[in-house]
Amino acid sequence: MNNKDLIIEARQGEALADTTDATGELGKVYIESYGCQMNFSDSEIVASIMKQKGYSLTTDYNDADLILVNTCAIRDNAEKKVRNRLKTYNGIKKRKPDVVIGVLGCMAERLKSTLLEEEKLVDIVAGPDAYRDLPNLVDQVSEGKKAINVILSKDETYEEIEPVRLASNGVTAFITITRGCDNMCSFCVVPFTRGRERSRNPESIIREAKDLFAKGYREVTLLGQNVDSYLWYGGGLKKEFANLSEEEQGKSVRFAQLMEMVAKIDPLLRIRFSTSHPKDMTDEVLYTMAKYPNICNYIHLPFQSGSTTILEKMNRGYSRDWYKARISAIREIIPGCGISADIIAGFCSETEEDHLETLSLMDWVQYDFSYMFKYSERPKTMAERKFTDDVSEEDKTRRLEEIIKMQNKHSLLINKERIGKTYEVLIEGVSKRSEEHLFGRNSQNTVVVFPRQNFSAGDYVHVKVSECTSATLIGRVVDLEEIEA
Ligand code: 5AD
Ligand code: SF4
Repeated sequence: MNNKDLIIEARQGEALADTTDATGELGKVYIESYGCQMNFSDSEIVASIMKQKGYSLTTDYNDADLILVNTCAIRDNAEKKVRNRLKTYNGIKKRKPDVVIGVLGCMAERLKSTLLEEEKLVDIVAGPDAYRDLPNLVDQVSEGKKAINVILSKDETYEEIEPVRLASNGVTAFITITRGCDNMCSFCVVPFTRGRERSRNPESIIREAKDLFAKGYREVTLLGQNVDSYLWYGGGLKKEFANLSEEEQGKSVRFAQLMEMVAKIDPLLRIRFSTSHPKDMTDEVLYTMAKYPNICNYIHLPFQSGSTTILEKMNRGYSRDWYKARISAIREIIPGCGISADIIAGFCSETEEDHLETLSLMDWVQYDFSYMFKYSERPKTMAERKFTDDVSEEDKTRRLEEIIKMQNKHSLLINKERIGKTYEVLIEGVSKRSEEHLFGRNSQNTVVVFPRQNFSAGDYVHVKVSECTSATLIGRVVDLEEIEA
């Protein structure tokens, strides 16, 4: 398990609540989230919709009138975890028969009525594009009707809904810029659960970022399944863009321009983004990153496999050489840029040679960190329909272990090279391990820990690194004159 996995693990299933007042006349809602950042961001939209309707938020599910579980379907074990959780919540119904349980997100979309009608684990099923309908679905339950909405939309972006910031540190926040995915990677269930790709109006993105900055937030992460394909030309699906006149096309906003618009809000507002796609990441994006110091020097660029044969089967749209050329462009245009990846071990027909190509690509790039997974076959995907999941569990496990071992080696090596250097750090809060220490991140997205002194969350400080682990840099705050001396 890598460091980011640990962070996500710690947040998985964590109760989410905000601190602002709500009338709560309709009762209390408990919201729990699993999976990717997008799901956590969606839960903030759900919280906003439910508050508007008259619910207050609670962090104690025993105290809730409505329990909503925002789910992930990306791998089988993610679904197993959620199923167990739903069983626990169902137990509560024995004591409190009126409590309403709803399943949201990707698993709701994938399984549709199954959890409601066959397994009878929930009262409400709402897919990722159906959250505006939630208050109505709750009403349907009270009328004794089946409450399900899994309709996927071509244009829903929830753009004017102001998210309620949940489990917030008051410093960093997510802003969704695109929803859905048109890529159809053969292993991935997301295009089926989150539907067609659509981009959000840049005006509403800028408004949200400005508002966050005014409230004291100092970092926004622009979220999308593939941020590089962000394209705004007045709404609608991407394929319709081709039918526009050249003049109209010229007025469109692409990712590099959007990022520039956000960067110009204030030099003290940091910008991050996730996820980039190697086939779509342009040099223009890299030059924009290099131009604005407040756009963080960090790119999450999943490669999935180091073998061109496997990449073709995965329908990723690039080869090993193309990917290496993108990494070279990053290194040239943004020297010292932090880079992380997603890697899948044991995809259909992956040979030992293919696996060695993954390891050799890792060795060539030297990632700061990675998210590493065993391939998990997902129903309906192209891989499930066309290929055989033929790598044994034993080989998948061993290959994943080799990948993790190599990643840990690189993470430690990269951090050791940072000893003695000074980084600008945005403080996010008190370190989990010690009240006497604060933590934040440098531009490259590495966690930095240092003695507390009189600093607080939201401050920018310069930290000189003196020690490290594979996941953390440890140091002390220095002033700029000391650095220059
Ligand atoms: N099995 C294993 N990992 C997967 N991912 C997506 N689908 C699967 C799957 N079926 C991984 C990819 C992706 C990340 C979000 O999850 O690496 O980039
Ligand atoms: Fe899934 Fe590929 Fe889309 Fe990522 S880009 S969400 S891996 S289909």
